Amino acid sequence: MNDKQTSELIEQATNMLDRAYVPYSKFPVGAALATKEGKIYSGCNIENASFGLTNCAERTAIFKAVSEGESSFDYLVVTGDTDGPISPCGACRQVMAEFFSPGMKVLLTNRKGLKKEITVEELLPGAFQSKDMV
Ligand code: THU
Repeated sequence: MNDKQTSELIEQATNMLDRAYVPYSKFPVGAALATKEGKIYSGCNIENASFGLTNCAERTAIFKAVSEGESSFDYLVVTGDTDGPISPCGACRQVMAEFFSPGMKVLLTNRKGLKKEITVEELLPGAFQSKDMV
């Protein structure tokens, strides 16, 4: 991931903040996911009056990509209107562990441009995986 590619992902994740459907929390989140081939899938959080049906931005982006047949991912950017770099929820960390390699990097950022790069494994050590089902 070079600086130009990272900037493009940050821009797409930030643009998603305006697409977020957040009438209840008023807390928009944006995500942009790059495949190894360089395709980008973006996503926002989509809330529901039945709060538990809310879909987070990260999962929107991941599910969009997987539903289009993608399975090989390179980099994820997540952003929000937070003081520091946004912190993905536990459900999204688990979904990342399902589709991303443990060493894949995720960039957590915010509108102010604060950045924290972290791996999938660092986000959820000991994630439950298919190998744990045997
Ligand atoms: N949210 C995300 O989109 N991603 C996260 O990782 C954290 C939480 C959303 C869900 C809900 O719409 C709002 O932020 C407040 O929880």
